[in-house]
Formats: sequence, structure tokens, C-alpha cells
Amino acid sequence: MNIRLTQNRDKRVDVEIVVIKRIKDIKNRIKKDLLSLGFCTKSGEPIYLNNIFYIGATKLKGEELKIALSSTIQKIAKTKFTHIYITIMQDSKELKIRDIVEGIALGGYRFERYKSAKKSDTLSLDIDISSLPHKQNKLSQDLKNSLNITKSVNSVRDFVNTAPEDFYPETMVKKAEDIAKESSLNCLVFGEEYLKSSGMNAMLAVGRASRHESKLIHLTYKPKNPKAVVVLVGKGLTYDCGGLSLKSSGGLNMKCDKSGGCAVLGIMEAISKLGYEYEVHGIIGAVENMIGGNAYKPDDILVAKNGKTIEVRNTDAEGRLVLADCLCYAQDEIKDIDYILDMATLTGACIVALGDYTTGVMGHNEKLMKRVQNAAKSSGELVGFLPSNRYLLHKMDSKVADILNSSNSRAGGAITASIFLNNFIKKSNKQKWIHLDIAGAAYKEESWGYNPYGASGAGVRLILDFIKNLKE
Ligand code: BES
Ligand code: ZN
Ligand code: ZN
Repeated sequence: MNIRLTQNRDKRVDVEIVVIKRIKDIKNRIKKDLLSLGFCTKSGEPIYLNNIFYIGATKLKGEELKIALSSTIQKIAKTKFTHIYITIMQDSKELKIRDIVEGIALGGYRFERYKSAKKSDTLSLDIDISSLPHKQNKLSQDLKNSLNITKSVNSVRDFVNTAPEDFYPETMVKKAEDIAKESSLNCLVFGEEYLKSSGMNAMLAVGRASRHESKLIHLTYKPKNPKAVVVLVGKGLTYDCGGLSLKSSGGLNMKCDKSGGCAVLGIMEAISKLGYEYEVHGIIGAVENMIGGNAYKPDDILVAKNGKTIEVRNTDAEGRLVLADCLCYAQDEIKDIDYILDMATLTGACIVALGDYTTGVMGHNEKLMKRVQNAAKSSGELVGFLPSNRYLLHKMDSKVADILNSSNSRAGGAITASIFLNNFIKKSNKQKWIHLDIAGAAYKEESWGYNPYGASGAGVRLILDFIKNLKE
């Protein structure tokens, strides 16, 4: 989709979108027709009349506008119209170009890799800025940034939606290398030999029964005089069958388990284009959890990179094992960390706790969590906070090793997973660490808002906003 700002209506325009805040300001004749067609400023449903899609938005910003634009672009995509012109009526000072771009570019996303008949994307959108009070430079910059962000979200969606047979650890490496090249990032890739020699036995165990070699990917963005050092660690389980603790057939659709790692890829792709003034590291544990004669087993004791011993109770609690070693790697290899965030489709329990669409946020530092909440508000992603306590803390105690990989009870499963991870966070980094469980928000077999069926790209906009606002 080609999105531009314009001062006047191009001849090629074949359809218009008009966003209306107050129905009373509309010309009488059109108002009457719109009302008789069921138009309502609250519904967000577009009404088509004389080559124009009218949408109502009581607020001309944020989620309401994005969702309304998303349903409009989906309707237009089914027509022969190709050249769209959008005008916003009334109070346009509250308007954000970002909201328009996100509604259109994220809502208009389609994943067609496996369709024999692919629709070509010939749509172009002109945004009429002639009545906006904002400075043209600022609008152009906003457009450029928003296009970069939505491009990254949509590539994350593509990655996650790709079938596990076509997207395995080596594929993730290839994507990371491509991104590094395009965005001038440094890219280190480590295979199993390195994992072995550096004592990353928890991560190694998870990938042992796979025919694909496990990979640790480390991308770095280093601007001049960075204001702080941010580390992102992503769970990149390109497929998770549960291992010997095999998932039931209903739970085996697990190509989505690479969403945390893919989100890290997307964030790294966007970050240099956005010119952030922070040094950002993206670390991904790319692994496939399979079964076989060589598989790791419940009862095994694993020694992680930091020397802690882990009693395996359930091989389906594999993401935390991969993250444990990746978190250790990050803290051993990266100097002067200011913030360390991990992102993972870690537990079904997080979905039970917060519902399908909300990312679970856990950590020790209230101020940092508040920052995540602010980033959620500005990006439109949903977050909920899950608190630990002294009683849950003991649910991960093992009789034979330092810690269990899975609690004996399902209750509070998202929190007990974060308690596990906490064992791999150095004392000096406790206040710098945030754990994001994106199991609910990353993938859904239904469309919601401006998110399509399948992968949503959760975490990308949230973390980009989180980093952008660190200086405040
Ligand atoms: N990848 C899953 C979590 C998941 C569930 C992601 C649903 C997306 C949707 C994870 O590896 C897992 O299987 N976790 C177990 C943990 C349990 C064994 C302690 C779970 O949630 O059941
Ligand atoms: Zn699992
Ligand atoms: Zn998993």
C-alpha cells in the first residue's frame, strides 16, 4: 500500500473516505441519507454512499479511529477501487497521522503466501492534510515513522504466520541477517557448538530432538552517544509440540511460539530507521521443541549457563529453559545494561488470567511497569499486570535440584513461569527487568480490531513506544 500526504485531490482518486465526528455538522441532504442507511458516529461501521465511505468516530484518534479505518480498508479491498482519498472533518488538530496509517496498513494486512490466487496490492491512499493545523514537516516525519513501524509489524506477522516447515531456526537466522544488512545492525549467530561450550545446556536440551540446529541470534543497534542500553530477549520456538509431555491435538498449532523472537526481529528492523538514541540489543533463542529418541525428558536435570540446576517436570515448559540461557548470555555478554525485557508466548495460563488479547507484564520495578502501561496506552496494545507473592515463590522449589521448570499446580502459571525466569536475572539487574507474556495477544484464529486472523505482531509497537519514551 502506498500512503502519501496531499493538499489536493488527485484525478486518479476513485473512492473517498470521510471521517465524521459530529453528524450535526454534515450537510442536511447527505445527513438524511446517511441516517437512513444506519450511520452512527459511535459504530465505526463504514456506510457507502455516492462513492464515499463515511465512518463515524466520536474521537478522531486512537483505537476507535484505527478500527473504523481498518474495517473500511477491508471493504475497499474487496472492490475494484484502487486510489483512495481520505478527509477528516472537524477538530482535526487532535488527529494523528500514526492512527490513520496504523488503521489502514495494519487493518489492510493479508497473508497470502500459501494462497494459489494472490491479490496484488495496488491500493494507494492520499491523506488530505489541507485542513490540518499541524506543520507539514512534522506530518511528513510522522508518516515516515508510522510507515516504518507498520512495515515491521507486518513483517513480524508474515514471519509468525509462516508454517513451521518453512520457518525453522536457520530461517530466523536468515531473516536476522537480512534485517541486519538492511538496517545496518551488527548480527552474531551462534550454533550448538557455542551453546555447548558456554554451558547453555537448558536451551540445548530443548532443541535436541529437532532435526534443525538451535541458534542464538544477537542483533545490535549502536547509535553515537547512546542514552541508555536496552536489551530485548525473545522466545523463538519455531515450533513447540510440547516434547515428550506432548500437547493434545487441539494444542499442537504452535507455529505462533516464535512470536517473541519475531517481535524482537521486527523491533530491531524498525529501530535504526526510527533513529532511536538508545543502544538496543535483540537476542533470540531460535529452537524447535520436538519428540524423538534423543528428546530431553521429565526427570532430567539440566545445568543452565549460570550454573543453576533445573529439574525438568514438563518438557512443554520449554520456553523458559531457552529464555533462561538467553537471559544469562545477555547479562554475561552485554555491558552496562539499563533495561532488560523478555518477550515470549510463555504460558496458556496468561491467557486464562488476562484473556486473549492482553499481554501479561511481570517484574519487580513499579516505575518500569508504569512505563510499559504508558507505552500500552500510546501504542494501543493491551497489557495487564500479574503480581507475584511470597507463597507462589515456593511453587518452583525442587527437592532434587535448584528449581523446577514447571510448578506442580496450574494455578498462577504465568506468574510461576516468571518466578522461574527470575532465577536467571542477576541481583544487579532485578530492577531493570520486565517479563512480557504475549501468549494471548500474539496469535488468534480470528480477526480482532485491526488485527487479522493469525499473527498480530504483538509487542512491536508496545516496545518501540516504551523505548522511545524512556527519556521522559
Ligand atoms: N508455548 C506454550 C504456551 C502457549 C500456549 C503459547 C498457548 C500460545 C498459546 C508453552 O511452551 C507451554 O506449553 N506452556 C505450558 C506450561 C506448563 C507446562 C507449565 C502451558 O501453558 O500449558
Ligand atoms: Zn511448550
Ligand atoms: Zn512454547
